Amino acid sequence: MHLIAPSILSANFLNLEKDIEMINQSNADWFHIDVMDGRFVPNISFGMPVLSAIKKKATKLLDVHLMIVEPEKYIEDFVKAGADSITVHYEACPHLHRTIQQIKSCGVKAAVAINPHTPVSVLSEIIDDLDMVLIMSVNPGFGGQKFIENTYKKIYETKAICHNKQLIQVDGGVSMLNAQMIVNCGTNCLVAGNAVFSADNPTEMINKLKNGI
Ligand code: DX5
Ligand code: ZN
Repeated sequence: MHLIAPSILSANFLNLEKDIEMINQSNADWFHIDVMDGRFVPNISFGMPVLSAIKKKATKLLDVHLMIVEPEKYIEDFVKAGADSITVHYEACPHLHRTIQQIKSCGVKAAVAINPHTPVSVLSEIIDDLDMVLIMSVNPGFGGQKFIENTYKKIYETKAICHNKQLIQVDGGVSMLNAQMIVNCGTNCLVAGNAVFSADNPTEMINKLKNGI
């Protein structure tokens, strides 16, 4: 059974507690936390103070996706703030192996994200050190974008190098229109922001993405 990680980026920031409670009570598996710095991506979201606040109420794992340059400078801080897993971007890490070891030495899960233009093959020498691969199915920076179809091919390619040892997560533009296909290709974890939080009934949408597809 695949995992569902609703993205807090699309939650109501005026009443985050209500949305956190909704996810706690739902069939969702993780909280997906998108950190953006305005440098690696053309948008700024939130950082450690918001993560610590979420940690106080969340009863599920916090899956932190760092869309920032020089993530190695902040890994300890994000772990202290409550991250249970940390994803860094391949494109932001010239010393990716070192950065992955740094994440693991903090006692949390380590993952690498690849942008839509980045081939899966760049992960061949690091895959054994990872707990998860995040395949970006939109260009990172904003919620609510259109799913890039080339992602399906990349899921198959990732599955081929994973041998079921690493989770495969797909992030961006996931909805009821494509979730079934994304899972069929071999994805274990769906991130969904807009699809969940713009739904009339977010709890039901989480259910559908989890079971009803
Ligand atoms: C995009 C973020 C995603 C985003 C997904 O840069 O990494 O996690 O919140 O949002 P949707 O599901 O709306 O595309
Ligand atoms: Zn994300």
